[in-house]
This record gives sequence, structure tokens and C-alpha cells, in this order.
Amino acid sequence: SDRASIAVIPGDGIGPEVVEQALAVLTAACGEQAFEFTHYDLGARHWLETGEVLDDDTLARLARHDAIVLGAVGAAPGSAQVPSGLLERGLLLRLRFAFDQDVNLRPSRLYPGVPSPLAPAVLDRGPIDFVVVREGTEGLYAGNGGALRRGTPHEVATEVSVNTAFGVERVVRYAFELAATRRGRVTLVHKHNVLVNAGGLWRRIVDEVAADHPGVEHDYLHVDAATIMLVTDPQRFDVIVTDNLFGDILTDEAGAITGGIGLAPSANINTAGRFPSMFEPVHGSAPDIAGRGVADPTAAISSMALLLRHLGRGADADRVDAAVSADIESNRGTARSTGQIGGAIAAALR
Ligand code: NAD
Ligand code: IPM
Ligand code: MN
Repeated sequence: SDRASIAVIPGDGIGPEVVEQALAVLTAACGEQAFEFTHYDLGARHWLETGEVLDDDTLARLARHDAIVLGAVGAAPGSAQVPSGLLERGLLLRLRFAFDQDVNLRPSRLYPGVPSPLAPAVLDRGPIDFVVVREGTEGLYAGNGGALRRGTPHEVATEVSVNTAFGVERVVRYAFELAATRRGRVTLVHKHNVLVNAGGLWRRIVDEVAADHPGVEHDYLHVDAATIMLVTDPQRFDVIVTDNLFGDILTDEAGAITGGIGLAPSANINTAGRFPSMFEPVHGSAPDIAGRGVADPTAAISSMALLLRHLGRGADADRVDAAVSADIESNRGTARSTGQIGGAIAAALR
């Protein structure tokens, strides 16, 4: 059939709560016939019941879908026995790595009417609208590390950051191509004053790729300075390109300045197009609010706009974005449940 086949991994904590709304919005935007959803019950409960996080057979089945929707994995009420990192590494990062999701795309836009913690003088300078292109399959996330003499006073723990010319170049090229469709400015964020090997590689590749894109300007910030600029001058950013860990940290901060992590979407894109890409909110399982129906599903819903765009349904993606923006603007300051927010956005699209 020509229905797109979507794997759905609701996961833990608020994951299932926000995913339910995201799927309802997809259906409202595109009709009942557009998608075939297959649910995968993975996460804390699955591990507690079976001892498996993600077996090879399930991975192979996931590989056959056109895209994956993920809620969140990790800490949740009743899963205190799950070791930290087991699900994050074994499920989420395993998917990003196995499906070679090299570009972790994280747009940040301050919608009109959204309260931002930034100073009024900063906000007055103009709209905030930038995208972080976070490398998704390398860096400190590669899992190359170990501990010597664990548990002793002489313990040595290492995590090695892996940066390949191939892996860096493909995300840097993506960032320049994206900037060419936007305001034409790429900022490399790294820390080459300390991380001389990885930083040097990133810098050289940015210079090389920039030579192929005379219409795109580029500059550089050390990551510590970038965290300042996000708060004092966020309008200076158009496309930020950075490594896996810096991108993780910067995108939580980016979420915070644009109205909170409950609004921040993301796409994990396999740019080669050989494996499914995965769409998920930037936030996690939020154990502190799970089960109460108060999580904001907007981040998950906006992630569906990224999914639609990826599947070639740009007009539907634009409609979802517009519905989100209108919902935010007309309900500023109102306390609403997860279902009320998702329901309102879905109703506007039907
Ligand atoms: P978190 O993003 O889950 O929560 C951080 C804060 O933001 C909390 O106060 C939470 O209540 C709030 N928050 C998050 N999403 C929200 C939403 N939609 N609406 C309103 N408030 C929201 O980060 P954390 O507390 O550091 O991590 C909790 C667990 O989630 C950990 O186990 C972590 O490893 C995991 N995690 C998973 C993912 C993922 O699956 N993609 C991402 C981040 C963290
Ligand atoms: C995110 C999360 C993940 C990351 C964790 C849960 C592995 O924080 O998607 O931002 O660090 O990438
Ligand atoms: Mn994160």
C-alpha cells in the first residue's frame, strides 16, 4: 500500500502521554488512511519483564518502517531498579547508531506569545529562530571508554570522543545546505582551545565545506561562550553545527529560552536514506510529572511536522506548524492538560 509505515515507541514516563497526542495530530492532519502505525512496547517495563532492552529481531523489524516516532525512554515512576543509561544507551542511542541517524536536527523558535525567561531588552531585538544541527552518531556518545580499578580510590574512568572526517563532513555539509535555505549563517560550536584534535578536525572541515558555499557566512564560538550568547544574543544564530554532547547541552538551553523543553522538537535523520529516521521531542521521560496528564505534548506534536516534511508532505507539515503556533498564541498563560492541548491542535487540523 502507499500508506507510510510508522513504528511507534511510546517508551517511559510521559513518553506514552505525549505520543498519543502526536499520533492524533498526525491522523487529524493527514486522515486515517495516510499512515499505518505499529506499536513497539519497549522501555522500562519491557526490560523489567523480559530482561531485554532491544533484541536484534525487533531492531530488524524497526528497520523496515518508513519512520519511527519515539516518546522518551528512561526514569519513570516504578522503574527505580532500571540502571541509569541502560535504556538510554540500549534503546535510544542504539537506534540512532544502528540506523546511522547522523543529523540530529533541533529547531528552536520563540513563538509569539510564549513567555521566555530572557530579558525584555534581549527579546526586543527581534525574532529568535535558529536550528541546531547536532552530530548524532559519534563524539563522546560512541561508547568508547572504560573504568580501571573500578570502586577503588585509584579508579580511572574514560570516555573517548570519536570524530571521523566522514562523520563530521556529512553533518557540516547538511548545516551549510540548510543555512543556504535560511539566513545564510553557520556557527560552529566546539572547544578547539582544549579539544585540539577533535576541534581541529571540525574547524578544518568547516573551512573546506565553506569554500563550496560562498553564499553562506560562518563563524565560530567556543561552547562556553555559546551558552552565554544563547541568553544574551540568541538572534545572532541561524544554524549551529556542533558535536553530539555539545549539541545535547545547547538544545536543552535552546528549549529553555524559547518557552521550555515542552515545546522543543527533534528529528534524528539518516541522511543517506537507507534506514528510517526517528522523530522525538528533545525532552525525556520527566518522571517528576509522569502519570498526571500535565506534560506538554507540543514538542512531540512539532516533531510530527518534522516527520511529515521528511516524508515529503511539506504542506501538511506547514499546517501542523501553523496549528501549533496558533494554539500557543491563543492560549498563552492558560493551564491545560496534555489531552486538552493535543485535542485543540488536532481539532484545528481536522
Ligand atoms: P527531562 O527532559 O525528562 O525533564 C527535565 C525537566 O523538564 C523536568 O522538570 C520535567 O518535568 C520537564 N519536562 C520535560 N518534558 C516536559 C513536557 N513535555 N512538559 C512539561 N514539562 C516537561 O530530563 P531529565 O529529568 O534529565 O531526565 C529524565 C529521564 O529521561 C532520564 O532517565 C533521562 O535519561 C531520560 N531522557 C530521555 C530522553 C529521550 O528519551 N529522548 C531525553 C532526555 C532525557
Ligand atoms: C536527548 C537525550 C539523550 C541524549 C539521552 C537520553 C541519551 O538527552 O535526546 O537529548 O543525550 O542524546
Ligand atoms: Mn538531551
